[in-house]
Amino acid sequence: MKNRQWLLARRPHGAIKDSDFDFVETDAPTPREGEVLVRNLMLSCDPTQRGWIAFDTYLPAVKIGEVVRSIGAGRIVASNNPDFQVGDIVSGLVGWQDYVAMNPKGHLNKMPAGVPLELAMSALGLTGITAYFGLTEVGRPVAGETVVVSGAAGATGSVVGQIAKIKGCRVIGIAGGADKCHWLTDEAGFDASIDYKSEDVQARLKDLCPKGIDIFFDNVGGDILDAALARLAMRGRVVLCGGIANYNATEPSPGPKNYLNLVVQRGRMEGFIVLDFMPRAAEAIGALSGWVQARRLKNKVDVQHGLENAPATLWRLFEGRNEGKQLLRVAE
Ligand SMILES: NC(=O)c1ccc[n+]([C@@H]2O[C@H](COP(=O)([O-])OP(=O)(O)OC[C@H]3O[C@@H](n4cnc5c(N)ncnc54)[C@H](OP(=O)(O)O)[C@@H]3O)[C@@H](O)[C@H]2O)c1
Repeated sequence: MKNRQWLLARRPHGAIKDSDFDFVETDAPTPREGEVLVRNLMLSCDPTQRGWIAFDTYLPAVKIGEVVRSIGAGRIVASNNPDFQVGDIVSGLVGWQDYVAMNPKGHLNKMPAGVPLELAMSALGLTGITAYFGLTEVGRPVAGETVVVSGAAGATGSVVGQIAKIKGCRVIGIAGGADKCHWLTDEAGFDASIDYKSEDVQARLKDLCPKGIDIFFDNVGGDILDAALARLAMRGRVVLCGGIANYNATEPSPGPKNYLNLVVQRGRMEGFIVLDFMPRAAEAIGALSGWVQARRLKNKVDVQHGLENAPATLWRLFEGRNEGKQLLRVAE
């Protein structure tokens, strides 16, 4: 069996390019004692991968020559581990490759039976868990409050906004383009949307949030974060989930200009990493599954195909071409 792999050739400068990676073919690995061999089926494309290949973050940077790190799911095709059987579908950090051999203990989780892979890797996976705990534990919404979400039509943002609606909040989403904005209000139940590509975000926030923003859930950073800080309500909370606007920056990004409004409004700005909440994942997945089943939570996935398209598919996130959770199907 052959194993195609994407290796990191050099650290990206600005936009990622195919030449930052080498696409190689070797023999599939043989699992050792205690290990399993996984045939990767679906890879998760995540903005944080841009950081993983560039520098140390909450995980050490991928080394030059290593397989590019990626969350994914696959089928066990050989097992030397009594707790994992051939045919089990598992997920973990499987990498941009066809096959991976590893000891599953603490590294691979069995996927829930009867849940489509696309759903288990989006609203009922890390994306949903991020949205759930980021909003409920860091943002702490109270019914009647005004919640603004950036990156609102994306995987995380769309779930955040819908949970905020379920919690009784008024929700405004900021996204790029008319189609995404219409989807937010017409399909996902947001109260209003702002197209940051064609509208003045600060002016629109002033119109839409006359009493200020109680929670700003930020996936983007940059000018959008600044515009939201300027409208913070008394005791407002800014949830720092990510800052994709600056992930490809070649120079350190300037800090937010309007941060002193946190002082005036007695506000709180707090970051989080979903990994810290994993011991409580079942709580989030329980709530999210209930809302999906009750059709209160719409889940949008964007599935591309072919391991050979991994860098290009990751890049879709940075051009806003993904419609919902970006996945890459690499085998059936
Ligand atoms: N803290 C955590 O534990 C954690 C976990 C998961 C994800 N995250 C973060 O959450 C954010 C969203 O991740 P996701 O996986 O859900 O991706 P996503 O939102 O599905 O996709 C990324 C979206 O970002 C928007 N975008 C790209 N470049 C932009 C720019 N320069 N300015 C404004 N918007 C831009 C695009 O939407 P438009 O078309 O609307 O521009 C794109 O669709 C990222 O910042 C990610 O790092 C954090």
